[in-house]
Amino acid sequence: MFRIHVDDRRLTILEMLRNGFSGEKIAKELGISRQAVWKFVNKLRELGYEIDNKYRVVNSPDPSPIDMAIYSKSLGVKEFIFLKETTSTNDIARQNPNSCVVAEIQKKGRGRLGRKWYSEKGGLYFSFSLNEIPLSDVPKITLLTGLAVAKTLNELNPKIKWPNDVLIDNKKVSGILCELLGEELASRVIVGVGINVKNRIPSDLIEKAVNLSSYGLNNITEIFKGFCVEFKELFKDFLKNWERILDEWRRYSDTIGRYVEIKVGKRVYSGVAVDVDVDGSLLVKGERGMEKIFSGECFYINIDNNK
Ligand code: BTN
Repeated sequence: MFRIHVDDRRLTILEMLRNGFSGEKIAKELGISRQAVWKFVNKLRELGYEIDNKYRVVNSPDPSPIDMAIYSKSLGVKEFIFLKETTSTNDIARQNPNSCVVAEIQKKGRGRLGRKWYSEKGGLYFSFSLNEIPLSDVPKITLLTGLAVAKTLNELNPKIKWPNDVLIDNKKVSGILCELLGEELASRVIVGVGINVKNRIPSDLIEKAVNLSSYGLNNITEIFKGFCVEFKELFKDFLKNWERILDEWRRYSDTIGRYVEIKVGKRVYSGVAVDVDVDGSLLVKGERGMEKIFSGECFYINIDNNK
């Protein structure tokens, strides 16, 4: 496990090495001993960075934990945790308040509605916590996070299937699992994001899921960076200008205007998905009139108009 405070000054050492700084210069710049620099350089090597005897960075791993730790600051967290393998990053984030947790492999990656989330090496799997989110705002966080992923992948013309599956060419490339801690009015929300980057798609999912490397995007670190930038921007507006976020979500929506069936527990709502409401719910107009749905499983129904 690699764990570091996002403000730890040693995080800048990698960039300094990339810019050709000597060990001595780095030590001086950061006000730490040369031994401390040397120790951190060895830590970098352990993490998979190839650094030669002249302190030149010959190669960086992808995912690159140091770069990700720096980017994760945009998510408002205090600590960054990187794991080669874990059960589920949502569980680790739950145990470590104010952290962002990234794992290369998840042995018990989970999806919404109790499903499994395949998490082989090559994908981007991470979770972070947001504090003091009013219970009623959780559906909004879900929408906002899906939008941040979609905006990150904007060049591939992604769509969002309500509530938060990100699709490319009708196949799922990313899923989001928001989990709530505490039942009080303001709770901690664990936001878990999975993006298929260069991981293998299991054969039984090949019709439904796709990875980004099929579209020429292979860099996990860069995708994480893109997400952090988009999330930060959106989260600013979450507090100040929620309507703007909703408008943007609508533009990416694959669901609005379709005939849908939404399963919520044992209930099924059917009708046309007309819009998302200001509270983040989906508005479905069916035989029972307009209904508001906050979460559930969404199916698209093809209606043959000629019959
Ligand atoms: C879904 O589409 O059903 C949601 C998938 C969420 C997967 C991510 S991967 C990182 C985090 N850890 C988990 O166990 N799940 C989420």
